[in-house]
Amino acid sequence: MTEQTYDLHAFARDARHALARQRQEDAARRIKEHLESFLRHPSLVETYVKGEHIPTGNVIYKDPDFGFMVLVHFFPKPMKSPPHDHGPCWVCYGVYRQSTDMGVYRRRDDGSRPEYCDLEESEHFTLLEGQARAFLPYDIHHIQQHQPGAVVVRVTGRDLELVERRTFQPDSHRVIITRPRERSWEDGGNGSATPDAAPRQAAS
Ligand SMILES: [Fe+2]
Repeated sequence: MTEQTYDLHAFARDARHALARQRQEDAARRIKEHLESFLRHPSLVETYVKGEHIPTGNVIYKDPDFGFMVLVHFFPKPMKSPPHDHGPCWVCYGVYRQSTDMGVYRRRDDGSRPEYCDLEESEHFTLLEGQARAFLPYDIHHIQQHQPGAVVVRVTGRDLELVERRTFQPDSHRVIITRPRERSWEDGGNGSATPDAAPRQAAS
């Protein structure tokens, strides 16, 4: 690590600064830029991930005041998550190794029926190494890894196990609600793993 390396300490400091001074949405966009700086860390995994590289997320930082978390996700196999939101949390995704495809959805219905949805994909893009994207509260998106070995750094506004989230099934128009501290569809890496249910380590 060189003197100029933007490390986890610097990232947490700058994220805290943004959250203390800006509206949540503006802070999330600023934190996305800081995350892109952190993704340039030459030995991020070796420095911060100790022990097992679990697909559902290795928590490397939890802020004691603002509650945001930094997680490193490993994808040993290709996977595609269903469309989902993160409830009232903002989230930033950044690619450290390989690339990640993402889709963003808009609702054609008004959302008034809790278990019904009518979605259309409104945006599709690929994040390359070093790139990040911020999602605001209730944004609906999916992620997809085409190649094995991707590493994604994710910053969540708070512990996602503490908030209600939704998973969407566009073909059947169903909405699956994940209550706080429940799990719906993460399974730890058998091809449908997702980083969106925080791991047990995150909740403890
Ligand atoms: Fe997500």
